[in-house]
Amino acid sequence: MSDPYFQQLFAQRIGGSDYGKGGEIYKFEKIKRAKRKALAEHPERKLVDFGIGENDEMAAEPVRRVMAAEINRPENRGYSDNGIPAFKEAVARFMAREFNVQLDPVTEINHCIGTKTALSMLPAAFIDPGDVTLMTVPGYPVAGTHTKYYGGEVYQLPLLAENDFLPDLDSIPADIRRRAKLLVINYPNSPTGKAATREFFAKVIDFARSNGVVVVQDAAHLMLSYDAPPLSFLQMPGAREVGVEVHSLSKGWNMIGWRMGWVCGHQRIVRALADVKDNCDSGQFIAIQKAAAAALDDAEIPRQIRQKYRRRLQKLVATLRRCGFDCRMPGGSYFLYTRSPKATADGRELPTAEAFSQYLIAEHSICTVPWDDAGAYLRFSVTYEAADDAAEDALMAETQRRLQQIGPVF
Ligand SMILES: Cc1ncc(COP(=O)(O)O)c(C=O)c1O
Repeated sequence: MSDPYFQQLFAQRIGGSDYGKGGEIYKFEKIKRAKRKALAEHPERKLVDFGIGENDEMAAEPVRRVMAAEINRPENRGYSDNGIPAFKEAVARFMAREFNVQLDPVTEINHCIGTKTALSMLPAAFIDPGDVTLMTVPGYPVAGTHTKYYGGEVYQLPLLAENDFLPDLDSIPADIRRRAKLLVINYPNSPTGKAATREFFAKVIDFARSNGVVVVQDAAHLMLSYDAPPLSFLQMPGAREVGVEVHSLSKGWNMIGWRMGWVCGHQRIVRALADVKDNCDSGQFIAIQKAAAAALDDAEIPRQIRQKYRRRLQKLVATLRRCGFDCRMPGGSYFLYTRSPKATADGRELPTAEAFSQYLIAEHSICTVPWDDAGAYLRFSVTYEAADDAAEDALMAETQRRLQQIGPVF
C-alpha cells in the first residue's frame, strides 16, 4: 500500500513517518493469534485459558438493577464533567468504612473513567520535557507512555524475587532522583501479586518527602487482597501530603466494562487531575456513577469476589506445585506470577518466558502471559470461565495432566 499524503505528519511519539509500517507484533496480539491457531489446529483439545486479565462474571445483580432504573431517568442524560456529588460521597463513605480514611468528597476525591484514564492524565499535570517518572517493571505501562508523550523519561525499577517484588528505592542514582517528579507504584501489584506492607509504604512516603517526588499509588487490584485486609496507601500517616491513590471498580466489583474509578488524596493533585480531565472527557454517564455508588455502599460485593479468586488461586497454586512449579499464594490480584521453566522433560530448551508460553499454547492449548522484563516468569490468571467448584476442579485436573506430561524443568 502506498503511503498517504500525510505519512510524514505522524508525531515522533507514535513512530513519526514510519508509523504503521512496522511488522512488530505486540505480546497480547501474539497470544491472541496463538490462541486462534491452537483452536483451529486442535478443535478436539479444550483451551485452558489462564491468559485473560478480565473478571469472568457480570457486575452484581443489585448494581445492574440500579443501572437499569437510572438509565431511564431524564436527569441523568447530560455531561457529568468532573462527576456527581453522590458518587464522591459514596467513595468517602467507602474509604471511611474499609480503611478508616476520612476524605472531603468535594476536594479530595474525583471520579475517572477507569484508572487507565487517570494514569494517562496525571503525567500531564507534572511532566515537562526532561522530567523523570519512576516506574516499576514488569507493570502497567500507561503513566510511562504518557510521560514520554510529554517529553519526559521513564526510570525503571525492576521488581525482583530477591527484593520480595518491592522496588529498591535506595538504588536510584542521584541524578535521576533530582529529575524525578512522579513515583508510580501499584500494590497489590500486577503482575507479581505482591501486596504492600506498612513498612514499604512508610519508606515510599519518606522517599517522596526527601526527594521532592509525588507518589501515585495504583490501587486497581486493592480489594483482591489475601494476606491481610486491603491496605490503602492513605491509611499511612503522611501519605496524603505526598500523593494520591487511584482506585478502580473494575476488578474488585466485576465492573471492568463499566469504566469507573476515582483518584483521592492530596487536594491540589486531585484538582490538577480534574483540570486535565476537564480537557479530555466530559465525565462518565451519570447512571453508571449512581450504580457505582450503590456498589460501593454494598460491602458484600468485593468480599464475595475476593473469596472466589482466593479459592481459585489456592487451587492453582496446589496444582502447579504438584507439577514442579515453586509458587505460593500471591498477596493480591487474580494473577499467579511464577518462574518460567527453562526446558521440558523431553529436552526441549525454552529459555524465555515468551518461548515457554508459546510452546504451552501451541502444543498443549494452555494459555498464559509471559513476562521477561525482570527474569522469565509466567502469569496465570484465575479469571477463566468455570460455572462452579466442580468445574474449577475439573479444569485443575486437566491442567495438571497436561503439565505433568510436559515435565517442566527449572
Ligand atoms: C495495575 C493496573 N492498573 C490499572 C488498570 C486499569 O484498570 P481500569 O479498568 O480501572 O482502567 C489495570 C487493568 O488491567 C491494571 O492491571
